[in-house]
Amino acid sequence: HGTSRINEQGHLEIGGVNTVELAKQYGTPLFVYDVALIREKAKQFQEAFTSEGVPFQVAYASKAFSCLAMFQLADELGLSLDVVSGGELYTAMQAGFPMERVHFHGNNKSLSELEMAVDAGIGCIVVDNFYELRELSRICKERQKQMDVLLRITPGVEAHTHDYISTGQEDSKFGFDLVSGQVHEAVQKAHEDKFLQLLGVHSHIGSQIFETTGFVMAVEKMFELVEEWRKQFNFTPKVLNLGGGFGIRYIEGDTPLPVGEYVKKMIEVVKAKATQFDLKMPEIWIEPGRSLVGDAGTTLYTIGSHKHIPNVRDYLAVDGGMSDNLRPALYQAEYEGLLANRANDVATETFSIAGKCCESGDMLIWDLPLPKANHEDILAVFCTGAYGYAMANNYNRIPRPAVVFVEDGEASEVIRREKYEDLVRLDLPLAKKVVK
Ligand code: LLP
Repeated sequence: HGTSRINEQGHLEIGGVNTVELAKQYGTPLFVYDVALIREKAKQFQEAFTSEGVPFQVAYASKAFSCLAMFQLADELGLSLDVVSGGELYTAMQAGFPMERVHFHGNNKSLSELEMAVDAGIGCIVVDNFYELRELSRICKERQKQMDVLLRITPGVEAHTHDYISTGQEDSKFGFDLVSGQVHEAVQKAHEDKFLQLLGVHSHIGSQIFETTGFVMAVEKMFELVEEWRKQFNFTPKVLNLGGGFGIRYIEGDTPLPVGEYVKKMIEVVKAKATQFDLKMPEIWIEPGRSLVGDAGTTLYTIGSHKHIPNVRDYLAVDGGMSDNLRPALYQAEYEGLLANRANDVATETFSIAGKCCESGDMLIWDLPLPKANHEDILAVFCTGAYGYAMANNYNRIPRPAVVFVEDGEASEVIRREKYEDLVRLDLPLAKKVVK
């Protein structure tokens, strides 16, 4: 997929760059991003809106993968940015990302994060709860500054995905629920607040979604509310933010739609509903994370030990694992991979790919068909671009990998590999007790 291909030497090539050379130059584990594929995905989302003449914003959900270069690329692609913490906002500021295109999410933004966002003049805050509504209003009043806000609602829609990444159901920590009527109180408060400019509402129903039904139901719910708000408080939203969650293909059998199809369906229902209720067509905002960067990322590992248990299983261990990809351990996520240095060799064996962490659950792929593999072979694991590096950690004090962007035959390092010194950078020595 993307610009990946197998070259004359039988090596996996991405963006015109030989991954075996990348592994040599930068070491492993290594995240490799196919920049052309990210560009292509962004374009598909944007064109789905422009071809229908609908005003929109496509905000990159930066939790999927963030660093200075990624934010600069997102800016170049005309994307907005969804941040969920002071740290992501700080990174956006350091990257020189235009603050007016930044949206701030989260169910427990701290007061200092809210102040930081207001002071930075970001485009919009997605308000999640009454505490935030009150505090944000106070912060804006203190500064005599207005802030654009959306209210996050939980539409009561169950997305068919893993429980941990399903967020639209009523019993969720996110947003204002519809059943209790709290959402109406929130809309009224925000609408009447002099320092808050209520642009509209937001819903995010979950992640790794393959169908459009959940989005359609969310839109329908939203319009029921909109109709009520118009009658009750003379408020009509200018913006409907339908969140992210568009699925990607990790393994054979995953059946996501082309990204434009989700957008087309959203536009179709929003248009129909706006007509039905005689409302001006609102702007549609979306927040894709995984679908922009997920399949653009590949992780390269070097194979080390091999454990053969006769009649049971062959384990091949790689030089990373749950320290650079938590998803298998956390969500039983599945991946595909191949030997990057012998990509044409026929798969005659089955290996289970283990990580190097001291934990039995640290398995990256079960029963992967591969050629007879040896230590020093390079294993490429596909579709690791979203929530891979972003959830990387220093468990077992394993340094986090390096990240390179590749495009048009060139590689550029965008995150350096952690060194052992980095691991103790924040540590302080044991304080000596002074005995008098
Ligand atoms: N908008 C909101 C409000 C979100 O909470 C999320 C993801 C997104 C957008 C982007 O969703 P995406 O398009 O990337 O599916 N760590 C999990 C995924 C957690 C998603 C959290 N929120 C995983 O690795 O599958």
